[in-house]
Amino acid sequence: MTEQQVQDFIAAFPKARRDEPMAGHTLLKIGGPAQIYLVAENSDDLIKAVETAKRLQIPHYVFGAGSNLLVSDRGFDGVVIQSADHSFAIQGQTLTAAAGALTSLVAQSAAKAGLTGFEWAAGIPGTMGGAVCGNSGCFGGEMKDVVTSVEVYDVEKNERATLKNEDCRFAYRDSRFKHEPLIILGVVLKLNAGSAETSLQKIEETLKKRRETQPHGQFSAGCMFKNFAYQDESALKKLKGQFEIPEAMLKNKKISAGWLIDQLGLKGTKIGQAQVSPAHGNFLINLGGARAQDVIALSSLVKMKVRDELGILLEDEVQLLGF
Ligand code: EPU
Repeated sequence: MTEQQVQDFIAAFPKARRDEPMAGHTLLKIGGPAQIYLVAENSDDLIKAVETAKRLQIPHYVFGAGSNLLVSDRGFDGVVIQSADHSFAIQGQTLTAAAGALTSLVAQSAAKAGLTGFEWAAGIPGTMGGAVCGNSGCFGGEMKDVVTSVEVYDVEKNERATLKNEDCRFAYRDSRFKHEPLIILGVVLKLNAGSAETSLQKIEETLKKRRETQPHGQFSAGCMFKNFAYQDESALKKLKGQFEIPEAMLKNKKISAGWLIDQLGLKGTKIGQAQVSPAHGNFLINLGGARAQDVIALSSLVKMKVRDELGILLEDEVQLLGF
């Protein structure tokens, strides 16, 4: 990016910052500078910023809370826009949230309002936009089961659009938003009438389960890899020869990446200050001062061992920026 491009962008958005360290904006606490960084407090600002970047031929990247994001040590040579409209509203059984609304807060509020169906999301870090994009899920719940529609900005057509659930191509930790230049502005969920007391109790149980099975109070980007989804059991040949696969995983045709990593005894492995969490094999944690390079090296080591020893290729779940 040239100095002229930077100055032209900043002239349009005087609030934008230069050379903003992304380590301060990701839960992994890793990442070099965004050459330009802008907090967009509403969808009009967000759209204007994307249109301006496009006009000035500056690469752009929109993100929410940085909960599922690994930014390179070099940072990003473009504009990083934080989608920071945190608002949401509940009307009857319909919940409308801006992309920047915090998922955990939305889940707590839905429960308090006596709505059921979104309790599972109370422990999910990040924003509603991020949750829609990655079709987040845990403990049996998944975004695709609660989303009615998604409001987007189509970067190619320069227009807003509303997509119905069936148009979002939701799949396991995937949606069309991961593959197309569509920026999520907001989402509408349809929940069911229930009891606040029961839902809040469910949330407590969910949070307890997370605390018991996943690292907490540590810097991570959640699960690093997708679980291994297969069609045909022949993909498990090498694995079956060595380990007894839990029934639940065979039934779902999905092998937990954390379980695979655990079977190979990789929990606790360290490269620099990056470590495979001793609590759950699919979390790579920053022990303090880790570089993106350490995380990438550790992730490559894990992938290589799982491939060589078990014949399984793990795919990233975490989003990468600036590599
Ligand atoms: N397990 C181990 N060792 C480990 C990790 C897991 O033996 O180190 C075993 C567990 O004991 C359990 C099984 O593997 O029997 C499954 O583990 P878990 O319930 O933790 O689920 P997972 O498949 O590893 C998925 C999601 C998580 C989500 C949990 C709970 C993915 C990649 N991960 O993990 O989502 O919170 O289920 O529903 O789909 C995320 O996406 O960032 C994430 C954390």
